[in-house]
Amino acid sequence: MELCRSLVLRFFVILLGSFGIESAIAESGPGTSAGALDVLLQDYAFRAFVRPKTGLAYVGTVPANLTGISVSAMRLRSGSLRMRGVKGYNEFDLPRGVAVSPYVERLVLVYEDLGNWSSVYYQLPGYTYLTPVLGLLAYDASNLSATNLPKLELSTTGDPITIRFTMGKSPPMGSAAKCVSINSLGSVNMSDPISNNQCGSSSTGHFAIAVESIAPSHAPSYPINPLAGGVVPQNRKRRNSSGKMWIIIVSAAGGLALFMLVVSLALWAGKLKRRKEVERMEKEAESGEQLQMTSVGDTKAPAATVTRTQPRLEGEYGP
Ligand SMILES: *[C@@H]1O[C@H](CO)[C@@H](O)[C@H](O)[C@H]1NC(C)=O
Ligand SMILES: *[C@@H]1O[C@H](CO)[C@@H](O)[C@H](O)[C@H]1NC(C)=O
Ligand SMILES: *[C@@H]1O[C@H](CO)[C@@H](O)[C@H](O)[C@H]1NC(C)=O
Ligand SMILES: *[C@@H]1O[C@H](CO)[C@@H](O)[C@H](O)[C@H]1NC(C)=O
Repeated sequence: MELCRSLVLRFFVILLGSFGIESAIAESGPGTSAGALDVLLQDYAFRAFVRPKTGLAYVGTVPANLTGISVSAMRLRSGSLRMRGVKGYNEFDLPRGVAVSPYVERLVLVYEDLGNWSSVYYQLPGYTYLTPVLGLLAYDASNLSATNLPKLELSTTGDPITIRFTMGKSPPMGSAAKCVSINSLGSVNMSDPISNNQCGSSSTGHFAIAVESIAPSHAPSYPINPLAGGVVPQNRKRRNSSGKMWIIIVSAAGGLALFMLVVSLALWAGKLKRRKEVERMEKEAESGEQLQMTSVGDTKAPAATVTRTQPRLEGEYGP
């Protein structure tokens, strides 16, 4: 019963998790909060440019209401990006062979580090972020004062774009870290890390490392792995059977006590009845004696002894 209930609970957690992914999908679409944040951050990143040199990262300033987020912008020729790639744009490495679509001659790569705002803008119920959410977005560089620019897509032909996360917690024991990629349409893709702190992507988007919130060590009642699944029900069963033993012992003792009470009550009632019977007979005998006394007079003593012994005999050997 307990196992069944925990399985049902687990099912709902999984269900919730999948809803969470869908809510993240909805949230990062254009016009929604994460999409609106990108629009705002593109503006603030572009403001960092004053006579920008190509291939250099310029650090932007965010409004006070978004303290904790950092942005950078880098202007590039798309030919250069394709021929040489970009090494070490903060956590990102772009390999050779990256193409821009739709094609533009120059582009701006906007970098976002959402810091402590990561789970505010990219809620992923059922998962816990081990790193901040990082964004790599591409825009047309033809007008550096423009706002509300559409995003461009990057695509790799050979090696993936890699993200080497520097800040991050290590995953709890027994839980596997997953690379989370959220593309420009807001759909979430989970994949295994390339290495401990490194994820790969074939396009632009938002990236993080996360673990499932329900780790085996935190919730031992959920049979996540065969070991936990094997151990927990056994413990349960043992506790249950010892519980049953207690119930048996207690009810047996209770039953015995009740039985003894009933028996002693019956005995007491029997004794009382017998005593009353005896008393009644004694009274009858006494009245009989008195009757005899009054009627017989002189022959009082022998008559009395005879009538007196009769009820005593009845009392001792009767039912
Ligand atoms: C933060 O402030 C900026 C400018 O002051 C404003 O445009 C933006 O809507 C604000 N963002 C949030 C999330 O409050
Ligand atoms: C993030 O941290 C900054 C201070 O570093 C704070 O002002 C801001 O409110 C925090 N944001 C959230 C969502 O907690
Ligand atoms: C660049 O964009 C700004 C803001 O949208 C606009 O005012 C300006 O005219 C644009 N410049 C060019 C050269 O298109
Ligand atoms: C998810 O990411 C992996 C690794 O980058 C990729 O191979 C896979 O095609 C992606 N899946 C989807 C649905 O985007």
